[in-house]
Amino acid sequence: MLRYFTAGESHGECLSAIIEGLVAGLKIDEDFINEQLYRRQQGYGRGARMKLETDRVHFTGGLRSFETIGAPLALQIKNKDNSIDKMPSIANPRPGHADLAGIQKYARSDVRDILERSSARETAIRVAVGSIARLFLKEFGIQIVSHVVQIGPVGLTKEVSFEDITLCENSPLRCAHPETEKKMMLAIDESKSKGSSAGGVFEVMAQGVPVGLGSHAQWDRKLDARLAYGLMSLQAIKGVSFGAGFSAASTYGHELHDEISYEKDKGYTRLSNRAGGIEGGMSNGQNILVRAAMKPLSTLIRALKTVDINSKEESKASVQRTDTCAVPAAGVVGEAIVAWELAVAFLEKFGGDSLGETKRNYDSFLSSLG
Ligand SMILES: Cc1cc2nc3c(=O)[nH]c(=O)nc-3n(C[C@H](O)[C@H](O)[C@H](O)COP(=O)(O)O)c2cc1C
Repeated sequence: MLRYFTAGESHGECLSAIIEGLVAGLKIDEDFINEQLYRRQQGYGRGARMKLETDRVHFTGGLRSFETIGAPLALQIKNKDNSIDKMPSIANPRPGHADLAGIQKYARSDVRDILERSSARETAIRVAVGSIARLFLKEFGIQIVSHVVQIGPVGLTKEVSFEDITLCENSPLRCAHPETEKKMMLAIDESKSKGSSAGGVFEVMAQGVPVGLGSHAQWDRKLDARLAYGLMSLQAIKGVSFGAGFSAASTYGHELHDEISYEKDKGYTRLSNRAGGIEGGMSNGQNILVRAAMKPLSTLIRALKTVDINSKEESKASVQRTDTCAVPAAGVVGEAIVAWELAVAFLEKFGGDSLGETKRNYDSFLSSLG
């Protein structure tokens, strides 16, 4: 069973993860992982912390000569700002953050004890973990990309292909339509000038996923449910949808469902992909299309009303270093989460303790498909 845990605080010494259940014989390309960490730090609207940190992964277990040996993988990312013990305590919890519920739940008297762990700094190590899943999936021709489809009130209406997304990789917001992207940037500027923040929606697309990951047979094996769980665990994500998403509810059945066809050399295919590549909790061989809606960030320069937890007097929420908008970065973390969930489902379907064994099982399944 493939699984992982993370540990580490935003201003602690480092972020760490342990991955268990990965096949032996997988080559670990550190440059690829560092490139993904760099991508997470980019995007128009990000704040000062991202300029401070240059994230690099460091392995402390599970590898020989950068190849997995079947042992648990242990990895770390060091924090440049690691002054956790010298940081001032905080008494004014931010509305919309984990601050108040966290101190009540854990009986803490300093909001910092909560925000250090709830902070999305933790997503750096999740990107590293997801990058390892991506390296595994690449062995089977599976590729994952993401793009931004909405910032605040500005939405992308154009249909976008996998190739369009790869072409916009270096644009400021990773939006595949330059005119819409300019409007999105203006929406971010406007929210910044008001001392506020902006949310939005990103889409993750996975290409090359074979039919049959996940299962209709049990609730907790359904691939869409598991992807939604993973994405909902990402800080500030408040909704997840697949393919046509919520708009499916307002169309008629004959307009929505993807008609089936068969080609001798390609096998079964669909004439459209409004299901987003998943039917009955199983991948159907089409691209997986999943969207996640991110709320506007809760640390605001124009601080909202709160209560001082010591005096119980009205106060203003604490202002930490903050992003104005982190939707493109969240998209990169979303790619990592999707990669992880697909890798887990892939290993469940095909099994194997070494990469060679998984490949043999995979090839045998593909050759059995009519
Ligand atoms: C990539 C990324 C960056 C984030 N940056 C910030 C930030 O700078 N300021 C902030 O208040 N929240 C930020 N967040 C969101 C908070 O971490 C999140 O709102 C908080 O942990 C509470 O969790 P919840 O929104 O899921 O309830 C970020 C989230 C992500 C995914």
